[in-house]
Amino acid sequence: MMTSPIKQEVSLLSFNTFGIEAKARYFVEVTSIEALKAILLDPDYQAIPKLILGGGSNLLFTQDFDGLVIKMGIKGIEKMREDNENIWVKVGAGENWHDFVVYCLEQGWYGVENLSLIYGTVGAAPMQNIGAYGVELKDIFDLLIAIDRETGNQQFFTHADCKFGYRESVFKSELKDKYVIAEVIFHLSKKPQINTSYGTIQQTLVEMGISQPTPKAVSEAVIRIRKSKLPNPEQVGNAGSFFKNPEILKSHFENLREQYPNMPSYPAGEQKVKVPAGWLIEQCGWKGRKVGNTGAHKDQALVIVNYGMATGLEISELATKIQASVLEKFGIQLHTEVNIV
Ligand code: EPU
Repeated sequence: MMTSPIKQEVSLLSFNTFGIEAKARYFVEVTSIEALKAILLDPDYQAIPKLILGGGSNLLFTQDFDGLVIKMGIKGIEKMREDNENIWVKVGAGENWHDFVVYCLEQGWYGVENLSLIYGTVGAAPMQNIGAYGVELKDIFDLLIAIDRETGNQQFFTHADCKFGYRESVFKSELKDKYVIAEVIFHLSKKPQINTSYGTIQQTLVEMGISQPTPKAVSEAVIRIRKSKLPNPEQVGNAGSFFKNPEILKSHFENLREQYPNMPSYPAGEQKVKVPAGWLIEQCGWKGRKVGNTGAHKDQALVIVNYGMATGLEISELATKIQASVLEKFGIQLHTEVNIV
């Protein structure tokens, strides 16, 4: 079978949006499920650690990877089934997420527009249930096909099997490092379903002079908002939100509110509220502050940036300091959203 050759000592600099220099001992790109199975079952590589790489947009390398990096290059967008109102499409894990969103809009398939301009690949999207501006991947997800890393067996995962939560899925918890997501099936709509519930979208559409938004206009508004506060990784290395927004007990929130009456929050079930981590970090004085080659971004404190020459360790040390100061000031533990390798 044709598989691309396994390379040695490969720089991962261009494979992570943080722009961190790290090396992979071995590196291979796979472009089909067969090639993926073959490499997973290759006896020469069976015992060594493996890292599955999508767009490298939610990843921080703090050291070289002493194992095999498998870059997912499985492509393809295929119509599976459709009726007058719905369409189901199967997409290869290696497709670029934003290109997929643009393609859907061109085809008149709706539901993904709020997830415009998110870096990374389709295969990584279910992993952390990507979300933005009032929509999460789980809202358009139907089924996925994953490969068992030990046996090479192919398995389907339904919506329920994936156990989606806020930036969570079964692939980050119980089944961590057990499967490789190879293809994802989405359930999209042929009828525009406009979701402008997330505050700034409405306002941005008004600024754009649009009163009757189409899905394309919503996508443009989302792109505009993201560009206005999130740094472009091609210019300044970053991996989007570095931490998750913490959920805290309502009683804890009430106490804090007495001291910080402007503290923003979102409802998160009966007992809890979600607090924007960006606000907490800003309150601790980190926003826009440069620490060596890194720092919290000037327009969105939740994004840690690489000003050019940062090492992964430098960034993770800053993250630890930020966590410590938020814990000290607010009694809130921040958890990383980015995967640290
Ligand atoms: N805020 C501040 N200071 C800051 C940043 C934020 O005070 O420096 C406060 C403001 O009150 C603001 C609120 O936080 O209104 C929310 O900020 P924003 O709308 O930028 O969203 P977020 O909660 O910081 C989350 C996601 C983003 C997603 C946006 C929009 C997480 C961890 N992050 O950020 O996702 O784009 O909402 O839906 O949930 C990502 O996951 O990488 C990501 C960028």
